[in-house]
Amino acid sequence: MAEGYFANDETRAERVRALFDTIAPRYDFINDLQSLWLHRRWKKRLITLANPTAGQRALDLCCGTGDVALALAARGADVTGMDFSQAMLDRASARDKNKSITFTKGDAMETDLPDNHFDIVTMAYGLRNLADFEAGLREIHRVTKPGGRILVLDFGKPTFTPWRWLYFTYLKIAVPLFGKIFCRDAPAYAYIHESLEHYPAQQGVDKGLRELDCCDCTIHKILGGAMTINVAVKQK
Ligand SMILES: C[S@@+](CC[C@H](N)C(=O)[O-])C[C@H]1O[C@@H](n2cnc3c(N)ncnc32)[C@H](O)[C@@H]1O
Repeated sequence: MAEGYFANDETRAERVRALFDTIAPRYDFINDLQSLWLHRRWKKRLITLANPTAGQRALDLCCGTGDVALALAARGADVTGMDFSQAMLDRASARDKNKSITFTKGDAMETDLPDNHFDIVTMAYGLRNLADFEAGLREIHRVTKPGGRILVLDFGKPTFTPWRWLYFTYLKIAVPLFGKIFCRDAPAYAYIHESLEHYPAQQGVDKGLRELDCCDCTIHKILGGAMTINVAVKQK
């Protein structure tokens, strides 16, 4: 895909799927490298905030290779993981040694899951990739039970200008370099910065969740807002 993976048009979803199908074999390795293994800690924080208990129904949308779904299941939740990349799902299923998680292929903006069904719905590094992030939030909200928790972890936009500049420069220059060296595909990793530029990040997600009439909406900043976790509760 010579022109790159980001396009703000009707080809967007297809390009994103092609991207993840391509990088699936090296996804976990590069994730560790580009985040200096920190993404594991950020996902742990997500799980702590989700606070799953045994038997609760949890949905991890855009589950990728399954980090969050596996962590939810390890806490005893009854977990469904959904993604539209078969290559990512195959890796997730291979990691689920107990075969306790239902991994299923589907579009996070239009799942076939029932209304008001899940106690917890998580999305880690997924919302920024959707062609319409508000449609994604509506879908998350639809499938969450009244009183259930919604958690969105993604790249954020730091408000302190020098830090934002430094961080965006890292995403723009260093991250595609990792992609070039380890995946022979710099555009696949240039995509992170491109998609973030077109994403309203933590403030937009918070606004979207409030517009859906969620309560207890909070933004948890990590590394000065370079990463953020939006948390909200669906009104009873
Ligand atoms: C950056 S990865 C994140 C994977 C995983 N959640 C993690 O944190 O490691 C984004 C994932 O979202 C999936 N994805 C993007 N758009 C999607 C959509 N519309 N429906 C379902 N999955 C989607 C991609 O296939 C990819 O696996």
